[in-house]
Amino acid sequence: MRSDSLPNLILIKRPKGRTRDFEISRLNNPNESKKFLGSFFSRNEKVRPKAIVERLIEQNPYTVDRTCVDYRPLFKRALLEELKKFGSRGHWLDCGAGEGLAQLQRAGWPKAVQTRRPLPRMTSISFRVSAGVPQNFGEKYRMLSGRKFETLSLAKIGPANLITDYTGVLTYTTTIDFVLKKYFKLLTRSGRILLHAPFKKTFVRLKNGQLVTLEQWLSRLIGVHCVVQKMRGQFSGESVVFLKRARGPLKIPKLKLKAAKHDFYLYRYFEEV
Ligand SMILES: C[S@@+](CC[C@H](N)C(=O)[O-])C[C@H]1O[C@@H](n2cnc3c(N)ncnc32)[C@H](O)[C@@H]1O
Repeated sequence: MRSDSLPNLILIKRPKGRTRDFEISRLNNPNESKKFLGSFFSRNEKVRPKAIVERLIEQNPYTVDRTCVDYRPLFKRALLEELKKFGSRGHWLDCGAGEGLAQLQRAGWPKAVQTRRPLPRMTSISFRVSAGVPQNFGEKYRMLSGRKFETLSLAKIGPANLITDYTGVLTYTTTIDFVLKKYFKLLTRSGRILLHAPFKKTFVRLKNGQLVTLEQWLSRLIGVHCVVQKMRGQFSGESVVFLKRARGPLKIPKLKLKAAKHDFYLYRYFEEV
């Protein structure tokens, strides 16, 4: 499903606690757009947007202990379907994995329970990990920590049949285009990427001047098959995005981070360059 249509409203939590609705179509009007960005993002020119995002990664102030049981209600059948598809021959990469509990739990940690289901190789990538959490477990699990995903070599990570990113790397990177290209370089031809990010808190100004959310930007990529699933219940208002390669060349436009704001949530504003 391609979702080219724009949602009517974006809810923006303003710093003083007031919540206002903005019509995204109005944001394509230059005056409204200026007002929007002005009210929304830091006007403090001394703090570069990149520094705002990078400070957050350093501080690591977020939920980092979701397990496989927590991933399932979000990614639903897709996660189990993928794991089943490639069985023990595959490689599952969790990018921005927190403590790595989603995969560690799958691998049987902490009890080293012998599981009869086939386990793929599993790699968690996380900039920060607490001391005491295993970096390796059994033959199948490893954690690559201490470095950003962006700086790890493709050879070190290795080709992956499944990439999950649950408010991980894509949520905190300053280079969305670079990260996505790298995901697709790592992904096998039939592999799938399961994403959950604050899609509606990340905006992209297209080359034609139109402003779209990250979710909409992803669904426009050439050479990518994109499915956006709107969530209900506890995740109402959020969505998950499933990506895989489509036929033809992959075209991911280059982006530049122009503004960022952190007030409980992280908001980012990119422009296609
Ligand atoms: C909000 S936590 C989510 C963790 C995990 N997915 C969960 O749901 O529990 C974000 C994680 O992404 C990691 N992270 C963010 N940007 C990263 C990057 N560029 N490279 C490696 N890890 C990154 C952080 O260190 C943290 O572990």
